Amino acid sequence: MSMDGRTCVITGSARGIGRGIAERLGEEGANVVINYRSSEGAAQEAVDAIETMGGQAVTAQADVSDPDEVEHMRDVCHEAFGPADVLVNNAGITADKQFTEMTREEWDRVMDVNLGGMFNCTQTFYDDIWNAEEGRLINISSVVGKQGNFGQANYATAKSGMFGFTRTIALEFAQGGSTANCVAPGFTRTDMVESVPDHVLDRIIAGIPLERLAEVEDIAAVVRFLASKESSYVTGEVIDVNGGMDL
Ligand code: NAI
Repeated sequence: MSMDGRTCVITGSARGIGRGIAERLGEEGANVVINYRSSEGAAQEAVDAIETMGGQAVTAQADVSDPDEVEHMRDVCHEAFGPADVLVNNAGITADKQFTEMTREEWDRVMDVNLGGMFNCTQTFYDDIWNAEEGRLINISSVVGKQGNFGQANYATAKSGMFGFTRTIALEFAQGGSTANCVAPGFTRTDMVESVPDHVLDRIIAGIPLERLAEVEDIAAVVRFLASKESSYVTGEVIDVNGGMDL
């Protein structure tokens, strides 16, 4: 299988897109680290699901915005499987408000998790990925990082910040043969979108050429390709998975 023996750390993978990615990679033979902040039960369910498919997985508690907790996650990974080959920075939050109402605390919180978490995890696993045979960094951004979105000045800023970071790390990794890419999902059916009122969702879907939201499997399929050795000549890219929203 394409991911046989590759060790993959996926942040925020107890549910949603992260869970979909974890299950897809586990199904294809990866050793998977399921990171969670507080949902231990859901993280264990993800491990059980991967083991049922014949894969190997462990849970690792860490708030990605806390560097010490991220170091603990690396220790768990090393103890279970050794150094990571693949890091997927997936954990993310929103705190939506029209800009005039947005507090500095809401701005900082979104930056701390979405960008600070990416910083902490990438720095902590940098040497692992550099030293891996075809190491991979994959950052989960968003269509909102490209297009902006009403009420999401903080989130859109964080998600577009991931593009510059990814291109820079791609340049730094290139000398060692590892790659860094972004995946920019469109609106995907998860808890994050659950809170969007139906009439707003209908408007969003009306603007998607493929006329539907993404399923987590749509995103996981692209991440699987990037995480595998098959993608070895793709680096510094932003791969849109948005049903044609840019068309
Ligand atoms: P979700 O809210 O269902 O899952 C996010 C996961 O990240 C949760 O398991 C949560 O506990 C975890 N998390 C949040 N803060 C954390 C922290 N400080 N430390 C560790 N884990 C933390 O969201 P969803 O939809 O699965 O989103 C996953 C990623 O995809 C996010 O980065 C999101 O911004 C991005 N995305 C989502 C889209 C969507 O329409 N659902 C569209 C485009 C991007």
